[in-house]
Amino acid sequence: MSGQDVIPVAEGGTGPVKIGDEVDRIDGRAKVTGQARYAAEHVTPDMLFGVVVNAGVARGRILSLNLDEALAVPGVVDVLWHGRRPAIARRDACYRDEDSPPGSPFKPLLGDEVFFSGQPIALVVAQTFEAARYAASLVRASCRTSLHDTHLLENLRDAHEAAGDEGPPGPVGDGDTAFESSPVKVDVQFHNGVEHHNPLEMHASTVLFDADGGLVVYDKTQGPINSRDVICKVFGLKPEQVVVRNPFVGGAFGSGLRPQYQLLLAVMAALHLKQPVRVVLTRQQMFTFGHRPEAWQRVKLGADSDGKLRAIVHEAVEETSRFEDFSERVVDWSGRLYRCGNIRLSHRLVDLDRYTPLDMRAPGATHGSFALEVAMDELAYAVGMDPLALRLKNYAERDPASGRPFSSKQLRACYEQGAERFGWSRRDPRPRSLREGSELVGWGMATGIWEASQQSAQVSATLQPDGRLELCSAASDIGTGTYTALCVVAAEAMGLPLEQVTFRLGDSSLPNAPLEGGSSHLATLGSAVAGVCDELRRKLWSMARTMQGSPFRRSNRSAEVAFADGQMRWRQADGSAAREGDGAVAITELLAWSGGQPVQARFELRPDGKTQGRHASATHSAVFCEVRVDEDFGTVRVTRVVSAVAAGRIVNAKAARSQVIGGVVWGIGQALHEETHTDHRLGRFMNHNLSEYHVAVNADVHDIDVLFVREDDRVVSRIGAKGVGEIGILGVAAAISNAIFHATGRRLRTTPMTPDKVM
Ligand code: MOS
Repeated sequence: MSGQDVIPVAEGGTGPVKIGDEVDRIDGRAKVTGQARYAAEHVTPDMLFGVVVNAGVARGRILSLNLDEALAVPGVVDVLWHGRRPAIARRDACYRDEDSPPGSPFKPLLGDEVFFSGQPIALVVAQTFEAARYAASLVRASCRTSLHDTHLLENLRDAHEAAGDEGPPGPVGDGDTAFESSPVKVDVQFHNGVEHHNPLEMHASTVLFDADGGLVVYDKTQGPINSRDVICKVFGLKPEQVVVRNPFVGGAFGSGLRPQYQLLLAVMAALHLKQPVRVVLTRQQMFTFGHRPEAWQRVKLGADSDGKLRAIVHEAVEETSRFEDFSERVVDWSGRLYRCGNIRLSHRLVDLDRYTPLDMRAPGATHGSFALEVAMDELAYAVGMDPLALRLKNYAERDPASGRPFSSKQLRACYEQGAERFGWSRRDPRPRSLREGSELVGWGMATGIWEASQQSAQVSATLQPDGRLELCSAASDIGTGTYTALCVVAAEAMGLPLEQVTFRLGDSSLPNAPLEGGSSHLATLGSAVAGVCDELRRKLWSMARTMQGSPFRRSNRSAEVAFADGQMRWRQADGSAAREGDGAVAITELLAWSGGQPVQARFELRPDGKTQGRHASATHSAVFCEVRVDEDFGTVRVTRVVSAVAAGRIVNAKAARSQVIGGVVWGIGQALHEETHTDHRLGRFMNHNLSEYHVAVNADVHDIDVLFVREDDRVVSRIGAKGVGEIGILGVAAAISNAIFHATGRRLRTTPMTPDKVM
């Protein structure tokens, strides 16, 4: 099966590129022409199709499943459930994965207990998808139900600390006492509804067999090694018996950090039936695994009458399941954004009869920064200050929580350039001061912050005699532009045209790479690529020193040479390559001279923990927005957004801007539309489809302007980049809420801010 995945490559004639250029996605054409195949698009003639049956109760025990009707459907091969579970999935196996929170991961089909509505309780396997789907609708479960509880707000008093988690940073000073004695006080509570992942590509796993009987699994995941390792643990297989691939992923942003249940069910069925099996979840079933958790928050801000912050107290309570303590960083950001001598942060959990929540783009920070940044706007009005001036007044030059310097922080430039672009200085602060036609117009702003980090990774590289450079690593591209960005870094380092560079990723048998998550993939893999290119250049340099007639025979340091236009040249004082005339060797010439063999290199990136540990590192943004509110209908239109982002060096300016635009669009959805409603009598999410769970669409999106301020952070990564995966969504919902206040005089402290709340 190997070799059939498209390896993206830039169009012929693209030529040389530099970090910071606007580069078209090299995988774009393969994706829009259908050549890029996703997890559910790998088919063999003997493939079987699995369809999942989900529980209809929120808590209880399965007494029996009536399978008579299902098994009678022509084409149905088997129905797997715990009552006839193949012995291959080991009950005592560890199901934990790299992203598991503390607790005992859910084990599909391993017992009769139902933990949440929508829990997978059977897999119908048939020769066609249609037969499996029809038969799945005929499976009748008989369950004994127990009392369930899915209500966060009614259980706040029972909230507990998260197990196995160090929790938010400890207190600075005495937040509560300082708050009480502050001349100006804001004390407000917030609620954030449940959101579900709705990437374009549904979660799917296709299990194939290679010639030796090993498994080749196409899985929708953000990390093929993580999926492989879980398969090996659960089914007692060795790593060399399983390859997991995800060369193309149709969106994920957290939903693919943990292997989802369809993966284990597909592997179970394939091993049991000894045939290829594919399991695809339906859109409705995408609402049965993990979600952005519901949150309750309280923020207390104390300040002097000139706006100087005296106290920040931020408490949050979120839901988790009864079997795992999912704990995201909600309140931590409130200790990192503003200079303040008294800070207290707390984060606790309530156990509910729902599946364990799951990371979703900027997990924790989206909720936390919404609360903090709305509260800051309230404080600005309480002290009679411009909201932007209040933030500048309390600007933190060092990380308030740890006292460490920032490795880089150009947030001030974000504020200044964003405000300039938006025209913020023309804002009349009075609520309800601007009306156009039937709509009230409001302007609001907020700050965004997200962590900037780096992980370990390995990359290998092969420079072919014809000058093509092939890199590989078990990295992922979940649609974020990894392929392109990594090829840009390599093309610049080696002085090769972009179309001569390819990156193979999305395969667990390639050199180690972490999950694509936490906005750290570029800082990680980009640095590893830079490292492997160093190795290659050193090798080429030492070859050139021995080459007959080479101008580099007298070179005694590899740093004396530079690579440009497919050639090795003398390096000039400014680091650039000298002009060709001063002596140059074409890489192809060098490789031909040395025998026409490829040159190989391998590099392992280990983050410099010492230097990184001495700093606080974060990406920042300033978001400005304009809303138009129709009070009769309660509708809100976000007509203009300026997002000014500081995220280190930008590698591919085009993809980075797209990332931030995408984040803003999701922020609009989060602010105004996205919410999964629970019927607490049934303990079930009710609006589990795109007609009732509204994600922002073109009609909701107007003018979005993204600017990147100049920043370069060689602590976070040697290429100076921090990553932009999550920063785009942050601050958006708060800026919208603040703009709605400016438009209407009404303060909204819940997401989503639907028309019933606006009216
Ligand atoms: Mo992201 S929520 O780390 O995929």
